[in-house]
Amino acid sequence: MAKIGLFYGTDTGNTRKVGKLIAKQFDEDVVELYNVADADVAEVTKYNALIFGTPTLGDGELENSWAAFLPKLDDIDFSNKTVAIYGLGDQEGYPDEFVDAMIFIYKKVKKLGATIIGSWSTEGYEYVKSRAEIDGKFLGLVIDQDNQKDQTKERVVEWINQIRADLLK
Ligand SMILES: Cc1cc2nc3c(=O)[nH]c(=O)nc-3n(C[C@H](O)[C@H](O)[C@H](O)COP(=O)(O)O)c2cc1C
Repeated sequence: MAKIGLFYGTDTGNTRKVGKLIAKQFDEDVVELYNVADADVAEVTKYNALIFGTPTLGDGELENSWAAFLPKLDDIDFSNKTVAIYGLGDQEGYPDEFVDAMIFIYKKVKKLGATIIGSWSTEGYEYVKSRAEIDGKFLGLVIDQDNQKDQTKERVVEWINQIRADLLK
């Protein structure tokens, strides 16, 4: 069985694309991908290591299928689960709500007892405000396909190198 469950929501495909790139950093069959638009929440219980990815849409909001999926996590015990979060956003178009939606996933899994890993430096991004910033760092990997596509691969590689051991243990 795959060791890591990667659950993403997406509107225009960017978050899926980054999810696939993340999966590629591992040996084949280590990461299993699910679109939350058609995933069963029971799939989440199969993994002790999870990666959750969402774009920010609307005004700092979660992607719709994530908004529907998130409350369904309430019945799952996360106390033995490790979760890493990544978010997609547009720092030029939405500088006051940059990748805000990541916070909703963070708060939910934190409340449910998960160990959250993968905080990420805010260096190299230009924005005014972000709810995804906690104590001066992003709570997870931040990707901006709209303005910094050329940096996506190296960001993913670096992030996975930081968290690989914790996800696979
Ligand atoms: C209607 C709309 C609203 C958006 N709102 C935000 C926002 O509040 N904050 C942000 O950082 N990005 C925002 N974005 C940018 C998206 O998060 C970004 O384009 C992302 O890559 C889309 O990912 P997806 O292709 O997986 O849906 C918005 C994009 C659209 C189209």
